[in-house]
Amino acid sequence: MITEIKKLDRNSILLAKELLLDGKVVAIPTETVYGLSAIGTLGSAVKEIFNVKGRPSDNPLIAHVHKDYDLSKLVLIEHDYVYKLIEKFTPGPLTLVFQSKGVVCEEATCGGDTLAIRIPSHTGCQALLKEVDAPLVAPSANLSKHTSPVTANHVYNDLNGKIPLILDGGKCSGGIESTVLDVTDKVPRILRAGLVTKEMIESVVGRCEIAMHKEGDKVKSPGVKYKHYRPRCQTALFEYGDIKGVVSAYENAVSQGLKPYIMCANEFEKDFCYKNLLLLGKTPQEIASNLYDKLLEGENEADLIIAIAMPDEKGVNMGIMNRLRKSCG
Ligand code: TXA
Ligand code: MG
Repeated sequence: MITEIKKLDRNSILLAKELLLDGKVVAIPTETVYGLSAIGTLGSAVKEIFNVKGRPSDNPLIAHVHKDYDLSKLVLIEHDYVYKLIEKFTPGPLTLVFQSKGVVCEEATCGGDTLAIRIPSHTGCQALLKEVDAPLVAPSANLSKHTSPVTANHVYNDLNGKIPLILDGGKCSGGIESTVLDVTDKVPRILRAGLVTKEMIESVVGRCEIAMHKEGDKVKSPGVKYKHYRPRCQTALFEYGDIKGVVSAYENAVSQGLKPYIMCANEFEKDFCYKNLLLLGKTPQEIASNLYDKLLEGENEADLIIAIAMPDEKGVNMGIMNRLRKSCG
């Protein structure tokens, strides 16, 4: 199959719609990462997403809808606080998990009774969703376990020959996947940390829990139990401020004939006299936005990426640390 990359515009949106209605899968930009989409009511199209990605069949997909879409067509909204969250954080990088009404097919929900919904803020993505006017289910548009794509070229590198079309909507501004929030209980619970933080949610609804996964627990968000986001080279993760550890890992790699790169926040640039640096930026938002881009740049250059942890897990740092542990830990 020939994979075309087309700049997202009116014509490519119409082409994407035609392909989607015909049961094909299309890669689309969002403000977090690129998604691999299919119409959420077409079981065979949704199956194709799992085939293309090599995704485990028990890991459900998020349904994406436009901002004027009536969510009650798809799910039960059981708690009033949810309206406040929708008002404050959508369109944007927040996914809400509800009781499903079963409209989106069981291939997408993996037979579960809940459905995750997201209203992306990316303008081009909104335009496509409006044009299709149906839920598009989409996981990140990478091969399973690999780093999520934040440009059309990243998608092409993983899925060339497997899908007909990639809509190019530029580099994703957010850079890590949406916050997944279970809103089926009285108190909302974060299943996956992201750019909408625990603190932000608490400021609107008072309380917010974080799902903890212990060995042997039934996992509520199946995606969290898999290996994820891994670049195709060796990796190591050091504590915040462990300059000595990083230097010794770097020197050790060089002495073995390997080519190491250090991936870190700009504040550490002065601590290293090496050229092989992948600088992530200054603020947590900037660091999140560059993380996957730098991992994917790094895997092309490096035999080993040596990453440095964030100083804490507050705010956006929680989402960054979650991704750093899985990709480099
Ligand atoms: O930012 C994002 O969320 C991106 C863009 C494309 O929207 N999508 C994304 O999809 O990251 P994916 O499939 O890579 O991750 C979806 C996560 C997984 O951890 C999955 O287990 C969880 O959401 N999830 C989906 N449906 C769920 C449900 N009904 N209950 C609990 N967790 C669910
Ligand atoms: Mg993913």
